[in-house]
Amino acid sequence: MIIHNIGDSQSVLNKFISEIRDTSIQKDAMRFRRNIERIGEILGYELSKILDYSNKNITTPLGQKEMLLPVNPIVLCSILRAGLPLHNGLLNYFDTAENAFVSAYRKHIDDTNFEIKVEYFASPSLQGKTLLLADPMLATGGSLITTYNAILKNGTPKEIHIIAVIASKNGIDFIEKHLPKNTHLWVATVDDTLNDKGYIIPGLGDAGDLAFGKKL
Ligand code: PRP
Ligand code: URA
Repeated sequence: MIIHNIGDSQSVLNKFISEIRDTSIQKDAMRFRRNIERIGEILGYELSKILDYSNKNITTPLGQKEMLLPVNPIVLCSILRAGLPLHNGLLNYFDTAENAFVSAYRKHIDDTNFEIKVEYFASPSLQGKTLLLADPMLATGGSLITTYNAILKNGTPKEIHIIAVIASKNGIDFIEKHLPKNTHLWVATVDDTLNDKGYIIPGLGDAGDLAFGKKL
């Protein structure tokens, strides 16, 4: 897997990451969602630099201009529900992408053990396309790999880009074992550990709850 840790270099991205982590700012759900969206825009821009491009002749009112434009069709796939603001950010830049949505959730066996359940997915064909698979939190990596295996029923993508806001080192190691070697991971920041409930430490807490409120 080719890992691009975009927060490693100094940029305004780090301000957005600090705001989604900060307990005094993350209470503002609208700002939390908007920051996740802005991070999606930045990661999308970064990954756009390595897509395949070809020349297209564009007609302006006053002449012609050869422009390099992305060629391969994109499918943008997100995991409900925390993935929605990240999805919007990516879609702001890849506005002609096809879209896929997957419901994946942790079904708890007891306080510390859970399995990932996928009960619904809606996806176009992935065959030969560029798959962007986005989820803000890459904790154990279970949701991402379960989702990937579910959507593969709709074809084999030409290339795969995983987009995450905060990833744990364990999550990165886990997905690396289950994805093709040439997969790219675009991550805003990486944290060291998980707690015994599978939450990223220090992370930000529960991304779905912060964006959309607590669930039963
Ligand atoms: C979050 C996040 C991932 C998952 C990551 O969703 O959006 O899908 O946790 O954890 P994992 O890497 O250990 O699988 P969550 O379960 O909080 O659901 P929600 O978005 O519906 O709140
Ligand atoms: N899901 C979250 O929302 N946060 C974590 O730290 C782990 C999983």
